[in-house]
This record gives sequence, C-alpha cells and structure tokens, in this order.
Amino acid sequence: MARILITSALPYINGIKHLGNLAGSMLPADVWARFKRAQGHEVLYICATDEHGTPAELAAAAAGQDVRTYCDEQHQIQKAAGEAFDLSYDWFGRSSSAANQRLTQHFAAALEANGLIEERVDRMIYSIDDARFLPDRYVEGICPHCAYPSARGDQCDNCGRLLDPTDLIAPYSAVSGSRNLEVRDTRHLYLLQTKLADRIRDWIDSRIDWQTLARSIALKHLDEGLIDRGITRDLKWGVPVVGPDGGPRPGMEGKVFYVWFDAPIEYIAATEEWAEANGLSWRDWWRTDEGAEDVRYVQFMGKDNVAFHTVSFPATILGSGEPWKTVDTLKAFNWLNWYGGKFSTSQKRGVFMDQALELLPADYWRWRLTAYGPEHADSAFTWEDFQASTNKDLADVLGNFVNRIVKFTESRFDGVVPDGGEPGLVEAQLETDLAAGIAEATAQLEAMEFRKAAQAIRAVWVLGNEYLQVAAPWTAFKTDPVRAAVGVRTGLNLVALFARLAAPIMPSSAAKIAATVGETDLSWPLASDDLLDRLPRGQAVAAAEVLFRKIEDAQVAEWAERFGGREAEV
Ligand code: MF3
Ligand code: ZN
Repeated sequence: MARILITSALPYINGIKHLGNLAGSMLPADVWARFKRAQGHEVLYICATDEHGTPAELAAAAAGQDVRTYCDEQHQIQKAAGEAFDLSYDWFGRSSSAANQRLTQHFAAALEANGLIEERVDRMIYSIDDARFLPDRYVEGICPHCAYPSARGDQCDNCGRLLDPTDLIAPYSAVSGSRNLEVRDTRHLYLLQTKLADRIRDWIDSRIDWQTLARSIALKHLDEGLIDRGITRDLKWGVPVVGPDGGPRPGMEGKVFYVWFDAPIEYIAATEEWAEANGLSWRDWWRTDEGAEDVRYVQFMGKDNVAFHTVSFPATILGSGEPWKTVDTLKAFNWLNWYGGKFSTSQKRGVFMDQALELLPADYWRWRLTAYGPEHADSAFTWEDFQASTNKDLADVLGNFVNRIVKFTESRFDGVVPDGGEPGLVEAQLETDLAAGIAEATAQLEAMEFRKAAQAIRAVWVLGNEYLQVAAPWTAFKTDPVRAAVGVRTGLNLVALFARLAAPIMPSSAAKIAATVGETDLSWPLASDDLLDRLPRGQAVAAAEVLFRKIEDAQVAEWAERFGGREAEV
C-alpha cells in the first residue's frame, strides 16, 4: 500500500467559495482521496484557507472588519462549508498559522543563504489619496498583453499572464478608484528565479506524470522567460519579513512576504499542524531524507494556479537546496462557467457552497460537478442540465434500481437476501460485464479522468438495470420462484456494488444505499471479487425512504429566478 499526500489549492479567505472553485480543486481532490483510501492506501489530504495578501485585506475592509477577525470568522465558515460538502480533509489549516510563519521565514533564509535573494529598490505604485503603496490587487488597469480593461496588478484574469502592477496601462486604485498615483521607491526582496530556470526546467522534464494542461502551462511560462520576482510587499497583514537571523531587517520594517510566497508553504505547515494535533510526524511526508521519497504527492488546482505550482513554488523549494518533497502528479482544471459567463460574486451570478446546500444535499452537486465538470475544457453549469442529469443518472438509473429491488425483496422475500438457486448464463454474462466495467472505472479514476470515471461507474449501474430487465424476478416469481430468488439475490448484491462504486463521489448516498442491503464495507471493488454472492444469505434488507428526488421544473424556475439563469447569459 502506498502513502499518498494530496493537496487542493488553498481557497482564498475572501468569502465562501462558489461551485466553480469547488469543482476545480477541492471536490476532485476529495473524490480522489476517497478513492485511494477505499483501495486501502494511506492518504493524507491537506487543505487550508489562504489568508494573506491583498485579497484578505480588501475583503476585510469591504466587510468593515479588522483583518484578523475577518479571517477568524471566514475560516470557520469555509471549514464548515467543506464539512457540509463531505470534503474529507485530514486537516484544514490556516496560512496565517504560527507554523507557516516559521516555515516561510525559514525558506526565505535558506534561499538567501544560497544567494538567491537580493534586496532591490523598487519603483512601486503609490496612491497619494490612499496614502499607501498599491501592491498586486490594490491596483487595476488595462492588461498590457490582451487589453482586458480590469486586469489586476498581479495577474490578468482574462489571459492568465502574471503581471507586475507597473505593467498595467491606465492604472487606478482598487481601494478608492483614484488615478492620482505616482511611482515611488521602496525596498523589496527579490527571488532570483532567473538563476533557477534551468533547474526548474530539468525538474519539470523529470515529472513524467503531469497531465498535458499542467505541463503546457508550465513550459509556456518557462519559454516566456522567468523573471526575478519580488516576494515582499508593503502590506500590514502577512508573514513579517525578518533578517536571516530571525531578527528585524533594517530597511524592511513593517513589510510582509507576498501571499503567493507563503501560501504554498502552508501545504507543509498545515501538515505540521496536523501532525502535532495527532502526535505524528510530518517530516516523513515532506522530507525526502526522512521517508518522504516513497510518498506520492498529488496536487489539484484550477488552471490559473498552475504557474505558481510549477514554477514559483518549485523555485522556493528547489532553491532552498533542502530535500523537500515536490509534486509528482498535478491535476489542473478549467473553468466552470455559469451559463455563458463567469461566476461572479459581485454580480451575484452563480451558486456558492452554502447556498447550494440550502437547495439540495451535497451528493447531487458532487455528482454533477464530478461527472460533468470543467475537466478538459471549460464547462457550463445550467439548471436545465443539472436537472436532466440528476433525474436521469441519480433518480432513474441508480435510485430507482435500489428502491425497486429492495422493496420487492421486502414484499416477496421476507426482507432478506434469498437463499437457493444457482446463477445461470445471464448471471455469468453479467459478471463478465461487471468485471470489465469495474476495470474501466478503476483505470479512469487512477488516471484522474473524473468525467470518464463517472461515466464508467454509471455504465455499471446501467448494466444492473439491464440485468433486471432480463432476469425480471417480478414475473419469474410466479412461475419459477427459485429463478426469482437468484435474480433478487443478484440484484441485492448489485446494490452493494453500486454503493461501493458511488462512494468516492457520493459518500453519504453510498452509505445509505449500502445500508439498504446491510452492507457496511465501502471499499473499492476489485474486478476479481466475488461480486454477486457477497451478501450473507438471510441478511435483512430495508428500503431507504428516498435516495434521490427528481428536480421539478418548478424548482428550476425558482432557482433560475433566485440565482440567475438563461436570461443572465447576455
Ligand atoms: N488562493 C489561491 C487561489 O484561490 C490558491 C493558493 S494555492 C497555494 O487562487 F498553493 F498557494 F496555496
Ligand atoms: Zn491579459
């Protein structure tokens, strides 16, 4: 059994996340973590809130709160939302933790000791009306690459290029809107990425396991040429910049590290917090000289995060010269759109995690976002598609199968798994088809092809429905009760199998489904298992109330009204 470290990109603290954030990092990470645990592997799934930098400061200011209070509250909200969505983090940390501060300062010192950090006097945008420097998101303007009119100082949301605030054309303050800006000198630390470019390229070449999207984004950034990047900011909230000895650093008082410098380090720091809370070691997960060489490290993220994880964070890690674990498999996602456009907090378009659960239980969303997620291309969320796939996949194909066979057992077979009879040709064929279906689902999940995996799982559910059509125990019951017993026993065993296959994507429904036939083992099935005679004969079964409710047209209309729908497409 392998040891697998999984991280999903740390959600910014600035408010509860929408379904697009969920679909592109946390949810697939959770599905995969559950899949790997269900195979018996030792999994450590780490996430945290990303609490520093301009996103946090700006959001706290908008909420009229001091930034620490704001982060305390929002962390709890996001933690609760994750739990409500059944995200099975082993630890959900905070990048503002003491552990992260220590480790961030440690990395900076190590980089500096290796000659990879330089103090430079920088020309930065200063807002006269706001009486402050405007780093990153504090300044907006026209993207110099694609002319997008509201590019942020750190990154253009339209073309994805990383930017420097002074690159922006016609900049204005995001705080006040003021254009009364000037460029002033300020001292900052620079990470000399130019010196690391070859090492990063070699390292990327050695990562055979990366998927095309991740590799191509990484290489594009390298081909464009790495620049030395400022890793400190004129902000109050963040990890303080200190001297190499940990004491104050003359000329840099009151400055903090750039949020993208400390945030990925929190993957490690959160592991430290997890280990401490559980009396375990974190070093054998992260230090290759202390056992981590046989850990497989997998990262999940949206495509806008790839450059930071394939270039910037590796620059920190490789540049430290220390034996840290680096990512083995990187799975990146495209955007989930809301109808034809983007999810938008400010324009109230789209559904956020807390709202989603007011409408339907987590598993409905988990299925939709996994089986039809933005995996190899952007994909759109629409109420109409959500309704169609929920009603078909979950209510008709899966839920109906389970209810029908379990209820029939209750009414005709005393509510127990029937004994007697021998499997025949139909069952033999079914067994062969199931083995192939399970092998396919397993292979697709192994490959992190979530949409294909979900289709493979669904195909197995369909096999069950087809089997019941042919075996038709309801008619056989009158003429050939022994044959009917075989059909019912096979059907009940299929219920258990379907639950096990559903478990990584829909954990709570899977447990409910399994419980109808008295199954508690939700481990991932092997194609070679005895699948159709696994439940003890005579074991009691009991139908669940409702597994999946169909989404009605009236609900779609109501939700489209409340959250926007097709008419919002323009
Ligand atoms: N908060 C960032 C985002 O939502 C992701 C940070 S990932 C980490 O885009 F690696 F920096 F932690
Ligand atoms: Zn752009």
